[in-house]
Amino acid sequence: MDLTKLTPDEFDRFRTFIYEETGIRLADGKITLLSNRIRRRLRELDIESFEEYYNLLTQKKLKGELEHFIDAVTTNETHFFRTGGHFDWFIDSFLPTIRTEASEKKRDKSLRIWSAACSSGEELYTLAICVDESRHQFAGWKISLLGSDISETMISAARKGVFPNRSLDQTTDERRSRYFAQLQDDAGWSIRSRLINLCEFKRHNLLEPIPDDPFDCIFIRNVFIYFDKKSKEVAVQNLIQALAPGGFLVVGPADGIYDLLGDLNKKTIFLYQKPY
Ligand SMILES: C[S@@+](CC[C@H](N)C(=O)[O-])C[C@H]1O[C@@H](n2cnc3c(N)ncnc32)[C@H](O)[C@@H]1O
Repeated sequence: MDLTKLTPDEFDRFRTFIYEETGIRLADGKITLLSNRIRRRLRELDIESFEEYYNLLTQKKLKGELEHFIDAVTTNETHFFRTGGHFDWFIDSFLPTIRTEASEKKRDKSLRIWSAACSSGEELYTLAICVDESRHQFAGWKISLLGSDISETMISAARKGVFPNRSLDQTTDERRSRYFAQLQDDAGWSIRSRLINLCEFKRHNLLEPIPDDPFDCIFIRNVFIYFDKKSKEVAVQNLIQALAPGGFLVVGPADGIYDLLGDLNKKTIFLYQKPY
């Protein structure tokens, strides 16, 4: 059985499946990458051909395999305080404004934040740290922090709250000592259970609406690089629908969705607000 490379026809079938499941459109040049990743999976599962794997995968006959497959074709790169300016805005502008609005009785003492496509959770935990740093001013508030991703593997990792050293490269020493415990033998860091308890993680596909109450702020960053325009449109409409009136969408620098945010008011290059 030749397992060296997918044929163009097999490649097309796999990438159509990936597109339908995730919205990610693999370019023609990705045939070698996809072949390598699937081949590794075939060896692990002792499956003899791409064809056999395709059938088992698409007929959902291998429990949990869709998750493995999606992990093999998506990129999960993330770290704490990634693109620091977004968190400066969150700390210096967003949180104080929310508190002022509540003290002027323009809103309830409740706050809902969503890190959409959160990978292993660093983005949501960064937001939890930002909120925790002003927790005394939020005493008595109902605060909800949600992280979601299409990958169940990433969601499980996020719930565990254990991170490699490189995830904390942009985290100050002060925050490291306050919010993390270092693992033995320099093996990484585990986040304090107090923060784990603040955060909820669940699987969610951006191509579907999220069945939740509206959010005051949604972070959606470094996700759409491989999406085509059609799936970006679907995902962006779902996100806009999930925002509360006056809520903010924080977008990544390379996501290329600026022209799809028509209903939102542009505040800065990375920040968009839903009209009241
Ligand atoms: C590069 S990570 C971004 C993590 C984080 N937002 C950040 O900026 O550091 C991209 C994540 O998007 C997730 N993803 C890809 N397609 C998705 C979809 N259709 N719905 C939800 N998550 C998706 C992947 O599983 C991956 O964990």
